[in-house]
Amino acid sequence: MSASKTWQGNSTFILAAAGSAVGLGNIWKFPYMVGSNGGSAFVLIYLICILAIGLPVMASEILIGKYGRKSPVNSLKKISQEYELSHSWRYLGILGALAGVIILSYYSVFAGMAFSYIFNSFPPGLENPSNYSSKYFSDFSSSPGKLIFWHTLFLVSTCLIVGFGVIKGIGKSVNFLMPFLFIFIILISIYSSYVGDLKTTLRFLFSPDFSAITPKIVLSAMGQAFFSLSIGMGAIMAYGAYMPEKQLIGKTVLTIIFLDTFVAIAAGIAIFPIVFSNSSLNVTAGPGLLFETLPVAFYSLPYGNFFSIIFFLLISIAALSSSISLLEPFTAWMEEMKKYSRSIIVIFLGSLIWFLGLASIFSFNIWSDLKFFGLNFLELLDYLTNNLMLPAGGFLVVLLIGWFLPYDFVKQNLNLKEIYLKVFYFFLRYVCSGSIVLIFLYSIF
Ligand code: TRP
Repeated sequence: MSASKTWQGNSTFILAAAGSAVGLGNIWKFPYMVGSNGGSAFVLIYLICILAIGLPVMASEILIGKYGRKSPVNSLKKISQEYELSHSWRYLGILGALAGVIILSYYSVFAGMAFSYIFNSFPPGLENPSNYSSKYFSDFSSSPGKLIFWHTLFLVSTCLIVGFGVIKGIGKSVNFLMPFLFIFIILISIYSSYVGDLKTTLRFLFSPDFSAITPKIVLSAMGQAFFSLSIGMGAIMAYGAYMPEKQLIGKTVLTIIFLDTFVAIAAGIAIFPIVFSNSSLNVTAGPGLLFETLPVAFYSLPYGNFFSIIFFLLISIAALSSSISLLEPFTAWMEEMKKYSRSIIVIFLGSLIWFLGLASIFSFNIWSDLKFFGLNFLELLDYLTNNLMLPAGGFLVVLLIGWFLPYDFVKQNLNLKEIYLKVFYFFLRYVCSGSIVLIFLYSIF
């Protein structure tokens, strides 16, 4: 493997993986999922899923990628050949590559929305900024033309970066963008806590209410954990292929998980105090929550327009560093077939994703009455990917590392102290695979 095919330095892999993990999932989705799923019960289950399932799955994905040094499909193929396992393991990579394309189709719609909010400044002298904000959002989401415009812009940006290659495209930029994002989200949450209702927020997020736990909440929390950490589809596996040989997986995973969880909680603390102190805003607003609340906070802030621009700019960048990891596995795999150039592949996949995105856009407006199993098209894709495809992908990864490959494979490639190794292995084999299956069964029956 040539030096140009690995991240430069240890921090770049961490930042690239954190860049993939931290995105709309943390800042936009986590708060609205918490809001629609009753608050603390969801947060509690979410945190448990991150540690008990997310951590082992992420480590396993990196392990496969770092060992295979190829796209997820071919890394899986290589490992299964070397260890004389079934060739079918490569379908796990294909399932993931497909999931990435499906997720990107609607991810791009919301990222485009965030992008457009950079340019959305409220007129001065509004009497009721929260009413204005809600109306602005509902007008925006009922206009297919506007949504298509921003979806296109965001998707083209994603394709451009992936077209240049992930290493060149993001290696440098994440090094300064990610720290900037962390600092800014901390500042905004301090500000919101100061002007909004922090007390109700903390109770809402952290006072555990076990009676509120339902099968639906448990399944959504697990799905959100997968989505937020970018696991279950090979994104982190694809990035692991570029990891410097000497870098340790254990520490890296802990850092990524910490950063991801930190940003999600910080986003909650940035948004909820504003919601609780404004009677016209509602925690159960769903996907519009971020877009309806934060502009209101910025409106009352001195230099609010300026902060709003910076904030939505940062969200867009965070979304971009995530979206490229959704496209990378499929692209890398097709590139290894050596039939087409990266640019052609990206144009082909991008067009496909663009068309699929239209259906999500229309589910806000002209197709809003079209339901499948009681869900609109966007909700259906969201359910299918987060609650089914990602956990299934994660489960298979765990099965491969924990049950099909020999213990020595893990031991040699993970470089952990014996005691940590044993704990990790135990979690992987029993806790992690067991809980995914149990959550599935629990939510079905
Ligand atoms: N984790 C990203 C976010 O929170 C989204 C994302 C990027 C993703 N790559 C992924 C989700 C792979 C699932 C799988 O916004």
